[in-house]
Amino acid sequence: MSNVIIVGSQWGDEGKGKIVDLLAEQAGTIVRFQGGNNAGHTVMVESKTFILHLVPSGILHDNTKCIIGNGMVVDLDELLKEIEELRNLGIESKGRLLISDAANLIMPYHKLLDVAREERLNSRKIGTTGRGIGPAYEDKVGRTGIRFADIESDSDFKEKIDRFVKDKNLILKYVLDYKGPLLDSNEVFENLLESYRQIAPYICDSSELIDQEIKKGGHILFEGAQGTFLDIDHGTYPFVTSSNTVSGGACTGGGIGPSKIDAIAGVVKAYTTRVGEGPFPTELNDEIGELLSREGNEFGATTGRARRCGWFDACLLKKAVRINGLTHLAVTKLDVMDKLATIAICIAYEDEHGTRHSVMPSKQSLQEKLTPVYETMDGWQCSTSGVTDYGQLPENARKYLKRIEDLLEVPIFIVSTGPKREHTIILDDIFAA
Ligand code: IMP
Repeated sequence: MSNVIIVGSQWGDEGKGKIVDLLAEQAGTIVRFQGGNNAGHTVMVESKTFILHLVPSGILHDNTKCIIGNGMVVDLDELLKEIEELRNLGIESKGRLLISDAANLIMPYHKLLDVAREERLNSRKIGTTGRGIGPAYEDKVGRTGIRFADIESDSDFKEKIDRFVKDKNLILKYVLDYKGPLLDSNEVFENLLESYRQIAPYICDSSELIDQEIKKGGHILFEGAQGTFLDIDHGTYPFVTSSNTVSGGACTGGGIGPSKIDAIAGVVKAYTTRVGEGPFPTELNDEIGELLSREGNEFGATTGRARRCGWFDACLLKKAVRINGLTHLAVTKLDVMDKLATIAICIAYEDEHGTRHSVMPSKQSLQEKLTPVYETMDGWQCSTSGVTDYGQLPENARKYLKRIEDLLEVPIFIVSTGPKREHTIILDDIFAA
């Protein structure tokens, strides 16, 4: 048995959904450990495209167990919708999807607060997905969150909801100058109970379940959402999400100890993208950026927003290797670069004082004013789309991949050359690690 964590190594949207879907064939259990429906994991099976927001990407394989871990924040209505959508596509979640009783709920007021606050921040906004993620995690940490475990067992649950709704209405109206209709606590309570009754059969102590699966000798796959530089501690703060997206989050958010982890794979896009606001040193506001956007179809799977595009940034990735303890790399969207005559890799930054940095510095004021230092290589200018054999890649594409491995000192075990499952080069079996 082997337990593997998969994380995004950049700013999210690296193509984790496809990699998790591929590896789920071998893993019996797939665990999402943080985030909520801010994620959009796209998986293409035959001619169907699935975009999963809350349910782990492993659900598309018949015999897997998929777990929504305690570290996630769950919008119950959205989850019920996703279960229904999967059912309409012939995928039944009942009996296979399990939800941690310690996961927190995204309440209707969290969504209103998220959007109202962004409007208030105006030019300094974060560019959130508006799904209530930040406010839900704030309540969790502030010990005013609502967990599945407490819904039916808590004797003063109704009073709690009344109090929370009243407090949030006051903030919306008097602090955030929110002009829309305020929430009615009876309605919030009734809707929550109604949705909860539908989801109750899915709820369990998932940490215990994962432990049982480990003892039975199954492979467990921990599926990260977003990316390393959106991590609340290690990302480009404050332009981050509100959870620990890095590998350490799999232990706290899945409910298992670090000694149980055997390998950690970082999913890396062959170039860089970012959606939302915040520093992005290798961003390209030119025709090359447009080419990457067009060829890579770089539009958010959750909000449909255009993703900002830029060159591969080894300084960013070196930090991702360190923070996550990456043992393997999965490089995605190599084929998107097929038409480029010249390819650049950022190998250092210069700040406004002329000081060189080999990794992304932590200071916000520095992050915003970094000039990338590039090395360049010749492109391959032929199609790699759908290639399944490493030897069939053009020489310059192999050189590019080798350079990434050398700079990061981590081996590549998967190269993705297209959106479908079969558009993949597999170089190593991570579960044998
Ligand atoms: P939030 O997670 O909705 O609070 O958004 C915080 C930041 O994370 C914003 O810049 C979002 O665009 C970004 N973000 C959140 N989820 C994803 C994702 O799945 N992919 C890429 N960016 C994301």
